[in-house]
Amino acid sequence: MPSSGNLTDLSGQTAIVTGGARGLGLGIAQRLARAGCRVALWDVNFDGFEETKAGFSPTLKQTVDVSDAVAVASAFADVITETGQVDILVNNAGINGPIRSTWDYPLDAWQKVLAIDLNGVFHGCRVAAPHMRDRGYGRIINVASIAGKEGNPGGSAYAAAKGGVIAFSKSLAKELATSGVMVNCIAPTMAETELLKEMTPEFVSTIKAKIPMGRIVRVDEVAEMVAWIASPACSFTTGFTFDLTGGRATY
Ligand SMILES: NC(=O)c1ccc[n+]([C@@H]2O[C@H](COP(=O)([O-])OP(=O)(O)OC[C@H]3O[C@@H](n4cnc5c(N)ncnc54)[C@H](O)[C@@H]3O)[C@@H](O)[C@H]2O)c1
Repeated sequence: MPSSGNLTDLSGQTAIVTGGARGLGLGIAQRLARAGCRVALWDVNFDGFEETKAGFSPTLKQTVDVSDAVAVASAFADVITETGQVDILVNNAGINGPIRSTWDYPLDAWQKVLAIDLNGVFHGCRVAAPHMRDRGYGRIINVASIAGKEGNPGGSAYAAAKGGVIAFSKSLAKELATSGVMVNCIAPTMAETELLKEMTPEFVSTIKAKIPMGRIVRVDEVAEMVAWIASPACSFTTGFTFDLTGGRATY
């Protein structure tokens, strides 16, 4: 079991970050790497990823579609072969899906959002959990969303998947409660990623108006929280959804 103590010291540990080629996943991977962790990135698209820009060298860069259970199991085995262990799994890969009323929501889009955003989390956990349990240590962080707590008109598939991630994480956390493996979620509101630049100023203002702090969360703030949840210091909290909404979701 890795020693506790300095919460930013994750040296000797191995993390997998899904959807780690850009956005929140990349920010989380950078933070974990800065803490001394070996980081394996899983993504379907590494086009925009550059090691020099990212500021760290991933231990592995694996093209993995998290909705494919067989590919996930195989990628996990490759990480074990390379580093011998997985201490941290950050299930971050996700898509939004189209914005449509539920009655107009295309069936194939619904299936795709659930396949990536919910099944993808299950696929990662089902291979990581027994490995971590057998080692007596592990930290699983599932990236949910405020949408999973409050719903999202027009984004019912996304909200259903994220709500599912929260309930799934509570269940798995209880299954693993005495094993040394913590399973937690984070629920951010809209973050300052590239996607934000594509939104109209009016839309961004509407989002900000719902946030008591009056601003959008920064990627480094999300990454900092994940680094703590991923560390040995997070030792008595499992099945919890950590808030990242600037005071909006105080429940
Ligand atoms: N950005 C936000 O405002 C925000 C808010 C709340 C929650 N989230 C959640 O945070 C996570 C990351 O979001 P982001 O904004 O960084 O998104 P993003 O689109 O910038 O990055 C997502 C990454 O996941 C990858 N990906 C997509 N489908 C995949 C698959 N099937 N298998 C593996 N990788 C796949 C993409 O290639 C991309 O690199 C998502 O789960 C999202 O729902 C984001």
